[in-house]
Amino acid sequence: MYHLRTETPEDRWEVEALYDLCFAPGREALSSYRLRDDVPPVAGLSHVARDPDGILAGAIRYWPVRVGAQSALLLGPVAVHPTRQGEGLGGELIGTSLAQAQTSGWDRVMLVGDAPYYSRFGFEKLTGVVMPPPTNPDRVLGRALAPGAWTGVAGDVTRFS
Ligand SMILES: CC(C)(COP(=O)(O)OP(=O)(O)OC[C@H]1O[C@@H](n2cnc3c(N)ncnc32)[C@H](O)[C@@H]1OP(=O)(O)O)[C@@H](O)C(=O)NCCC(=O)NCCS
Repeated sequence: MYHLRTETPEDRWEVEALYDLCFAPGREALSSYRLRDDVPPVAGLSHVARDPDGILAGAIRYWPVRVGAQSALLLGPVAVHPTRQGEGLGGELIGTSLAQAQTSGWDRVMLVGDAPYYSRFGFEKLTGVVMPPPTNPDRVLGRALAPGAWTGVAGDVTRFS
């Protein structure tokens, strides 16, 4: 029903408009956005989903970050248009892009989000991984893409440079 493909520069403003619709005003003031300032998203991992008429239904983006001295993927933002939610598209965007991240050689992924939603994709609370304040530590979640990839990885999450 939906066609998923990697985001291109032509998709950019439509994706921004979708995020503006799906998130509270001022989303770019969130501390997680400071990790994205002047850092390009990970090429080839961000995806859009369009319906058969080409209308944007959902999108997911990824940025690289540092956790202590290690690198990790920061998943998000992910959003599905309010009229398309609950059809499995969010799960499809997350599943497809994470599979691609794994085959691209990424070892670990993290996000700031609701554990009740992301636990179904294998995300668990990360202890000792500190997002810039103010971030609720209970919402800092991670998933290993390679066995044991989060073991011993801790510290401040900082901008990738
Ligand atoms: C979160 C979001 C991307 C999910 O997309 P979706 O296409 O509706 O998701 P799916 O259809 O794959 O999954 C729907 C299921 O997730 C559940 N779900 C959605 N958001 C949830 C949340 N925040 N916490 C717990 N469960 C949630 C739904 O209740 C539904 O449960 P069910 O399978 O038991 O019926 C979408 O709701 C959205 O865009 N929300 C607004 C933006 C947002 O909050 N993004 C995530 C930032 S952390």
